[in-house]
Amino acid sequence: MRCGLANAAKMWYNSEKREKWKAMYRVIQVQKDLYYLGGNDRRLALFESAYPIPRGVSYNSYLLCDEKTVLFDTVDLAVSEQFFENLEHALGGRALDYVVVHHMEPDHSASFLRLMEKYPNVTVVTNGKVEQMLENYFPFSGEGVHIVKEGDTLSVGRRTLQFVFAPMVHWPEVMMTYIPEDGILFSADAFGTFGALPGSIFADEVNFERDYLDDARRYYLNIVGKYGVQVQNVLKKAAGLEIRLVCPLHGPVWREQFAWFLKKYDTWSKYLPEECGVAVFYSSVYGHTQNAAEILASRLAEHGVFTKVYDVSVTHVSDLLAEAFRFTHSVFATTTYNNGIFVSMENFLRDLKAHNFQNRKYSLIENGSWSPQAGAYMQAEFDGMKNMTRVGEKVTILSAVKEETRAALVALADEIAEDIKG
Ligand code: FEO
Repeated sequence: MRCGLANAAKMWYNSEKREKWKAMYRVIQVQKDLYYLGGNDRRLALFESAYPIPRGVSYNSYLLCDEKTVLFDTVDLAVSEQFFENLEHALGGRALDYVVVHHMEPDHSASFLRLMEKYPNVTVVTNGKVEQMLENYFPFSGEGVHIVKEGDTLSVGRRTLQFVFAPMVHWPEVMMTYIPEDGILFSADAFGTFGALPGSIFADEVNFERDYLDDARRYYLNIVGKYGVQVQNVLKKAAGLEIRLVCPLHGPVWREQFAWFLKKYDTWSKYLPEECGVAVFYSSVYGHTQNAAEILASRLAEHGVFTKVYDVSVTHVSDLLAEAFRFTHSVFATTTYNNGIFVSMENFLRDLKAHNFQNRKYSLIENGSWSPQAGAYMQAEFDGMKNMTRVGEKVTILSAVKEETRAALVALADEIAEDIKG
């Protein structure tokens, strides 16, 4: 019975009757001969099982129709059905000649095997590391793969594909493709962002700074923030290219004002702060450490210092990390717990260290009802980071803020404000 149903479904799937159902496609022209085939996922709670994406995410794929047809990457399984209808529609009966695989993370490669089944004559164009990963992920022999090296070119008609390697942005096998005739850069994960695309796919047709910049910063810093040196290497390569259009694997396509976004990447990958101001991070069991953090923040505000305050126990660590990288100054206030740092603050500090947090000013506040020691442990974490400068003396609270500790918090805020203004 099961077999019978499966056969019936297969027959229907391949029948002419099904043709009228193939209207799911949503193909968007990027420019002459170039089409967007990707889709949005607004249901996924955690990207990579790690990062909340309340505004969703897009998985981008592009088709170039020159004398040869070239697909740039596939998509996550979440949008695979639509992707294949997009591809079929965009090809308009033409054969698919090439698929360029830039990055093997499954949010872009999960549909690869089905692509090979549907288009068995397509030539896979990629590098040796990707080819090895294809064999690791799929029952795929690697036979017939067109292997490219850094700087290699492939003519596809009026246009040339030029391959630019980008190791560790975000995995070691990552590469990009540049088309010199049009100034197009297919940038893989680089210059992407969390956040689904709202109909338009172009950065100049959304309010990117208002609606995407926070997500773009969080995406970059959490996913490739650790690899600033490698990102700088790619930016140096990009500086030698005339780029007029950037097609990333997530988020909007850039055709205007890309220099603005490039400058953000330059700042982030050099581990430099983006804004003068203070992020105050606290963990508090019964509210006393929070009280200390709020007193300090209010005094900073009196000085006119741009200040933001976060409870690290209820704010996702990916947001905390992005905000710490954003500002010149941070204050870390925590209770002593199990003779150490309170667990959510400890997790946050380890995440900062793992992402090479550096070149910042920081201040410390500790609390403890009988043996305040969290400050010393926090200090040890910052001693293990590069070019971190402490501002002011550590403030110690014994259970609750009293007049003398209030005075110490005000003095610390005054010192931070002076440091910023100076
Ligand atoms: Fe969007 Fe590294 O994958």
